[in-house]
Parts: sequence; C-alpha cells; structure tokens
Amino acid sequence: MKVLSGIQPTARPHWGNYFGAIQQYIALQDNEQAFYFIADFHALTTIRDAELLRGYTQDAALDLLALGLNPEQATLFRQSDVPEVTELTWLLMTLTQMHLLEKCHAYKDKKARGLAADAGLFTYPVLMAADILIYDSEIVPVGLDQVQHIEVTRDLAQRFNSVYETEVFVLPEARVLETTAKVLGTDGEKMSKSYDNFIEVFPPTLKKLRKKIMSIKTDSKTVEDSKDPETCPVFSLVKLFATEDQQQELAERYRAGGMGYGDAKQYLYDKAIEHFGHAFEKRATLEQNPDEVEDILRAGAAQARAKAQTVLARAREACGLKPRPVS
Ligand code: ADP
Ligand code: TRP
Repeated sequence: MKVLSGIQPTARPHWGNYFGAIQQYIALQDNEQAFYFIADFHALTTIRDAELLRGYTQDAALDLLALGLNPEQATLFRQSDVPEVTELTWLLMTLTQMHLLEKCHAYKDKKARGLAADAGLFTYPVLMAADILIYDSEIVPVGLDQVQHIEVTRDLAQRFNSVYETEVFVLPEARVLETTAKVLGTDGEKMSKSYDNFIEVFPPTLKKLRKKIMSIKTDSKTVEDSKDPETCPVFSLVKLFATEDQQQELAERYRAGGMGYGDAKQYLYDKAIEHFGHAFEKRATLEQNPDEVEDILRAGAAQARAKAQTVLARAREACGLKPRPVS
C-alpha cells in the first residue's frame, strides 16, 4: 500500500494529534511506500511569522523522528521542498467547483464567525488534494476532521480523470482509527490546540506535565464515593496508554470507591512517562544534531520529488501541456 499523510507545523503536538494521527503514521511506516511531510505551505494560511514557522517546522521533524518515525522505512520531507505540488494544485484548481470548497469546514467556520477568509484558506483543500494525488497515495491516515478533505480529493481526482478521460490519479482512502478518533482534553471536550485543554506530547518540563494532568476536570465525588470510569476524562485518557487488563483493574478501583481522582491522575502521569519517556530522550539527542535532521529531510525531499515529477508529468500530458524541458 502507498501511505501518505501531512502534519501542519502550527503548534507542538498534543495527545490528540499523537493518538489521532502520528501514532497511525508510525504504525503504517513499513508499507511499500510511506510518505510523511510537514505541511509548511498549509501552515502559511495561519502563521505569518517567519521565525515561528521555521521553528515549528524544525520541531515537527524532531517530534516525528523522536516518536519513532524511521527514515530508513518512511520518507520524511517538507511540503515546500517539492514545488511540483503547487503546480498540480493549479491544474486541479481549474477543475474545482466553488461549491465544493464553500462547504469545507475551515472556510465555512471562519465565514460563520464573520471573519474574512483569504484565498489560501479557501483553496486549502485543493493543495491538500495535490499533496495526496501527486504521490499516487492509496491510504491517508488522519483524524476525523480531515475526512472531508479526503472526500474532496477523491472528487477532484475523479473529475480530472473523467474530464480528460484518463486514469492519471489514484483514488485515495482515509484511514481513521476508531478507538482514538476523538481524544478528550483536560475539560472533557475534544482536545485541541485552539482550546486551552491540551496536553503536549513534549512538555517543557515533567513538572508542567504533572500539573497539566492534575488540572483535568473531574466531578466533586469524595475519595470514598464510587465513581463512574466511563464518564471520567482521566479514565478516557488512561485508555490510550493502558492495556485492557490494566484498564479493567483501574475501572474496578473507580467503582469500588476509596480511590480519589488524584490517584487516577498520578496513574495517568506514570503511564504517560512510561509511554513517552524514550521519545523524550531521543528528542533531546536529535536536538543536538540539527545537521543529521536536515540530511534526513533533504534525502526525503529528493525521493518525494522523483515520484512527484512522474505523476505531474502524467497530469500535464493528460491536459495538453507540453512535457517540461529537461533542465
Ligand atoms: P487541533 O484540533 O489541535 O487544531 P489539528 O487540526 O492540527 O489539531 O490536527 C492535526 C491532526 O491531529 C489531524 O489529523 C487531527 O484530526 C488530529 N487530531 C487533532 N485533535 C485530535 C483529537 N482530539 N482526537 C483525535 N485526533 C485529533
Ligand atoms: N490538513 C491537514 C491537517 O490540518 C494537514 C495536511 C496537509 C494533510 N496536506 C495533507 C494531511 C495531505 C493528509 C494528507 O491536519
């Protein structure tokens, strides 16, 4: 299978990003083709500070590598290092009907809030379609909120294929992990960087991580009271880290009473350290070796470009553009 996904360098990843997206990329990296990129072009629709964008882009590479993305198996690159993708965006744009983009949530939400949207945000899904189609991607692991964009991608691929009577584009499919489709935040709502309810994968200090976990909102039951694990946000997060047996054991302690939410939070903290401890160490090492990270990104871009050029050449030919002269 040919797998591809992109991650926007607009913030440091939180547990929702990790369990909803990053963990899936890593699990799929032993596929025939696994392409993962840092969507810096997309990030320009929200970040207008060059230093910040550079920082987040570098952080994204470090984070992914520390979390287990193996450059021997997967190809990791920056979106903007493959300029072919912007050319394909234009080809697709000429076939994109406005109504298809008008219903896309990023634009629709902004408009509903009375804010002015720019053309970059409006056409964001077309760039995303180009990202996917240019590598003949078959499977796109993403969180639930991105499924709409994969549907747009399929529509555009079908439209191009049908208008030009070709089979230039492969129709991709979204892959959503049902169990972690919606990771809850410290307030019990969907974890998101837009709300102050997220828990960072790489916290600045362990103390900060502990403090964040201790801030998870729980009800006012006393230590003695029997508690319902199924409605508790701490328990819903424990589920992400613990085995079935461990979950059952903790659920019994919830129901039996005699365990306070503080203990459940401490349990969650320990599980998180057990899970991410190795990544914390690896990231610290990578941070000391920026040249090594840059080499990985450059090698990834060369591989991605080679593939992108072949697909773009097919698309150009299908719509009547001359083959590009070899430079
Ligand atoms: P945010 O909602 O914090 O702005 P992004 O939109 O940047 O996050 O999402 C990046 C990736 O992480 C997407 O694939 C998205 O679906 C996934 N994701 C984000 N938040 C969650 C969550 N709470 N649960 C599951 N997946 C999530
Ligand atoms: N829009 C995606 C997000 O916000 C990032 C992204 C850009 C992407 N291009 C992609 C994801 C192509 C999958 C495939 O998470």
